[in-house]
Amino acid sequence: MWDDVYAKTDYHYGTTPNDFLQAHVSLLGGRVLSLGEGEGRNAVFMAAQGLDVWAVDGSEVGLRKAQALADARSVRIETERVELGDFSPPVASVGAVVSIFVHLLPDVRRRLHQRSFAALQPGGVFLLEGYAKAQLSRRTGGPKNVDMLFSLADLREDFAQADVVLAQEIDREVCEGHGHSGLASVVQIIVRKPA
Ligand SMILES: C[S@@+](CC[C@H](N)C(=O)[O-])C[C@H]1O[C@@H](n2cnc3c(N)ncnc32)[C@H](O)[C@@H]1O
Repeated sequence: MWDDVYAKTDYHYGTTPNDFLQAHVSLLGGRVLSLGEGEGRNAVFMAAQGLDVWAVDGSEVGLRKAQALADARSVRIETERVELGDFSPPVASVGAVVSIFVHLLPDVRRRLHQRSFAALQPGGVFLLEGYAKAQLSRRTGGPKNVDMLFSLADLREDFAQADVVLAQEIDREVCEGHGHSGLASVVQIIVRKPA
């Protein structure tokens, strides 16, 4: 499905990085694992900030466009095609994990968060923005399956062992290419693995 979404020549979510990531990128360090990176807008931005980026996604087409964007911006990113449901990054191998609008069914989400949190080194940061359950009634982006939308309560459970730096549900304008277009209900969290 995502290969079809990304098949056109332009970038479905644009080439500008996500606002929430942009505002908090200074908290990230070391090697950064970007989950569900898609066409590379966030990975390329982070690489341009001097971060060592490992971008994973299930869409080969998306990752090819991510590498093309990296080449065009003269930065280096590592890309890998993975199925997030089976993905198990090495324990304590990254300084940060980023997840921007990666919507999964609850059991897959929980497992991915557990394994990605285990992949963080002590002191490492997990940053996530996604559509909240309240987004279901809006037509500005996100899945139409409420089980794939986020709640802060679920995320607090997923990251029960973490120190919470920021956790909020807000309404904000999300204008990112054709894919995200207008006022939206989102959750934003940043948690840190205890040192
Ligand atoms: C809404 S897009 C967001 C892309 C990117 N994070 C951004 O903000 O531009 C969701 C991405 O997650 C990926 N994805 C969703 N479910 C996946 C799965 N089960 N395994 C691998 N990738 C998945 C899709 O291929 C897609 O690129």
